[in-house]
Amino acid sequence: MRIGEHMSTLMIQATRRWQAADPLLPWPALPTGCGPVLIATGPPGGLAAAGSCEHWAGEPGSLELAWGAALRFRLTPCVAGPDVADGLDRLLARWRDHLAEVPGTDKPDTAAVVTWPSRDIGGVAALRRRGLMPTEVIAARPAGRPVTEAGPGERANVLSLDEVRIRRAELADLDVVTRLGLHMVRYDAQVSNATERLGTEAALECEAAGWLASAAPWTWLAERRGRPVGLLSAERPPAAAWIAPLTAAAPVAYVMLMFVEPGERGRGVGAALARHFHREADASGVGVTLLHHGVLNPLSAPFWSRQGYRPLWTTWEATPARAIR
Ligand SMILES: CC(C)(COP(=O)(O)OP(=O)(O)OC[C@H]1O[C@@H](n2cnc3c(N)ncnc32)[C@H](O)[C@@H]1OP(=O)(O)O)[C@@H](O)C(=O)NCCC(=O)NCCS
Repeated sequence: MRIGEHMSTLMIQATRRWQAADPLLPWPALPTGCGPVLIATGPPGGLAAAGSCEHWAGEPGSLELAWGAALRFRLTPCVAGPDVADGLDRLLARWRDHLAEVPGTDKPDTAAVVTWPSRDIGGVAALRRRGLMPTEVIAARPAGRPVTEAGPGERANVLSLDEVRIRRAELADLDVVTRLGLHMVRYDAQVSNATERLGTEAALECEAAGWLASAAPWTWLAERRGRPVGLLSAERPPAAAWIAPLTAAAPVAYVMLMFVEPGERGRGVGAALARHFHREADASGVGVTLLHHGVLNPLSAPFWSRQGYRPLWTTWEATPARAIR
């Protein structure tokens, strides 16, 4: 068999496993990185796994730089199974050898990144063994999924939501949206790989100006007696096209920013913002909403779960990139 046929067999096996594990997963992508295709052979002579390593460098001053290392080496793995742990382990070893030869992968602001299907748990042992840590989850909410309401007595500290108004943000709110967005980056930086950089505030302001200049932006503010206390900002399907290939469902919307002032948390402001957004997204025909949240974020993980989201992908990282074992 030629390599192309081996690759097709590998893709078919990986597709079957993914479909069985999670119907929201897309078909696995063929390796298309900037380096050579990395291959782990399997018995007898076939392919156990294949992948490619994309070398990504953040554009100076871009908002994307706030969400992780400046230089990211991203592996797109495709593993046949049934022994997923072994196939992935051998592919990760090939990747480690590749990264050892790439200049600069020992610098602190670099990361080796793998985004692995959350429910394909056969890969977890190999990822851990190679020194990668789970940092973020890409969570998905299929349209119309109901929220889990708090049980009686669970919301003893809730203050009246009557004084809270949710309204669409406009260009005049640019300062507020930038400030609340920056607070989210600062919170995230304590519990994930997010980093506030020199250009982060300016980048946020520039991006937010673009969102707010559009017609009926999907950016909402929560105000208590006229004072902004919360923010939710999301991308409609055309703008979220960059993340759409990560799921089989469509059209895809993406939640970019969510923040509630510390003194206002736990009173239902976040749930009110999410309700507002979901109502509009569902009505406009969105099939699934995606978002990132830190694995270690003690507030957002349970919050989004209550709002109908569940893990689709988990991002695993080693920093610096050469730290992968
Ligand atoms: C995640 C976040 C937006 C939720 O907003 P919120 O207004 O606290 O949300 P809600 O009050 O609707 O729900 C929070 C839940 O935590 C509970 N809670 C209780 N006390 C709380 C407190 N002091 N702080 C936070 N949550 C508390 C709430 O009761 C509620 O649980 P429930 O659904 O079982 O009732 C907010 O915690 C936040 O801004 N976190 C920091 C930034 C962040 O993590 N952003 C999300 C990035 S993906």
